[in-house]
Amino acid sequence: MRARPLEAVFFVMGLCGVACADPSLPAGGGGAGGAAAGGAGGVAPTTGGGPSEGGGGAGGSGWEWNLPKGFPVPKVPDDNPMSQPKVELGRRLFYDTRLSGNETQSCASCHDQALAFTDGRAQALGSTGELHPRSAMSIANVAYSTALTWANPVLLHLESQAAVPIFGTMPVELGMSGMEDELTARLAADPDYVERFQAAFPDDADPISVGNAVKAIACFERTVISGSSPYDRYAYGGDESALSEAAKRGLALFNSERMECFHCHQGFNFQDSVTFEGQAFPSIEFHNTGLYNIGGTGAYPPGGEGLYAMTGKPEDMGKFRVPTLRNIALTAPYMHDGSAATLDDVLDHYAAAGRTIEDGPYAGVGADNPYKSGLIAGFELDDGERADMHAFFESLTDEAFTHDPSFADPFARSP
Ligand code: HEC
Ligand code: HEC
Repeated sequence: MRARPLEAVFFVMGLCGVACADPSLPAGGGGAGGAAAGGAGGVAPTTGGGPSEGGGGAGGSGWEWNLPKGFPVPKVPDDNPMSQPKVELGRRLFYDTRLSGNETQSCASCHDQALAFTDGRAQALGSTGELHPRSAMSIANVAYSTALTWANPVLLHLESQAAVPIFGTMPVELGMSGMEDELTARLAADPDYVERFQAAFPDDADPISVGNAVKAIACFERTVISGSSPYDRYAYGGDESALSEAAKRGLALFNSERMECFHCHQGFNFQDSVTFEGQAFPSIEFHNTGLYNIGGTGAYPPGGEGLYAMTGKPEDMGKFRVPTLRNIALTAPYMHDGSAATLDDVLDHYAAAGRTIEDGPYAGVGADNPYKSGLIAGFELDDGERADMHAFFESLTDEAFTHDPSFADPFARSP
């Protein structure tokens, strides 16, 4: 396995102050970044898991993770331990349209279980009709993501993330900006919520609050774990027959030095910004895959500049966090702006070492993007190999996950 290029390792000094000061991340370091790396061969189960002794952040007392084989224990912030009442409350809030200003949308409007918690759109559409510059992401296994959303190195906790779609104005998603009191009033008016908030936060005199709502949502999200696909039965369950021969060939291609996919889509969650209990040091990485190169300057379209939007550093243009590939056959369209309609488009993009856009405002040869990762080098893929890649992608579809009643809409069940 060849050494990772330096450019792939993200460690901006200016941001380290924030990231390293984060109380829920282990202090200091020294350990290998990317401890969850699948390594050569890629399918080796991650062994870095296991509950850490006395390390803050294990689940709440009495909480039992029901984790798939090969999956490490998620990190949980000390001030928001897991509990069943919180998870159940969080699930209701996730599906409740009362969380949007005009009561038309919930989190689930853009994160639909049937689509592995995406929305099928290139760009998400908010409750007031505002188009989001980026595509809704799957929340499958989001408990393990070190940095949340497409390219934000300082958004590290689900608790903080949940407030963004509720109150954010750039763009408007749920549209509750300035309506904090209205939100708590709506929840307090429902006797079921009064009971549930009390059960979830028994030590709080006044449990119905925005802070507690986002804590509960985060607890629910940490349970949204996908790890029972045919690939998992093969890679972690020792079931040789779980994958077709075509899917096995696709997996080998995925893990090959020719295609290089596994360097970035690595480990149990096919991504390289992961954190979990017992890990020496959480990794946060961002890469430019050569999706754009507007006018040959390396530029990406507005709203999709990636890490650059946060750091202002030219070399961060077009760098994004690696998304998981779990359930990838269900989550079209692809990339941060949904600009790749199909998995064939994605394969074409990588095969060409970057996408070429012939004309229009975004014209440019992505392969020549000056900030592109050295791992995007291009390759040839014949029709049979392409079919094998599709078989592999499909082996990542976890039907038990998309049908798991514990992640489903709790309101749909009432008569
Ligand atoms: C209007 C559609 C929309 C709504 C409503 C919405 N989201 Fe999202 N979600 C998105 C988009 C778009 C992104 C990517 C955001 C970005 O990159 O800035 C995202 C990203 C996320 C992520 C990050 C996933 C990852 O892998 O890092 C989480 C977690 C999340 N949303 C949870 C929620 C929760 C919880 C709610 C409800 C409180 C919610 N979302 C409501 C569209 C939506
Ligand atoms: C240098 C790191 C890197 C390598 C190598 C790499 N990827 Fe990616 N991949 C990314 C990043 C970053 C994104 C998001 C890019 C964006 O949205 O602009 C991504 C996005 C994707 C997506 C879309 C996911 C979604 O939810 O929209 C798929 C599918 C994908 N890659 C598959 C592959 C395959 C197959 C290979 C091997 C041919 C590969 N990747 C190689 C970093 C990488």
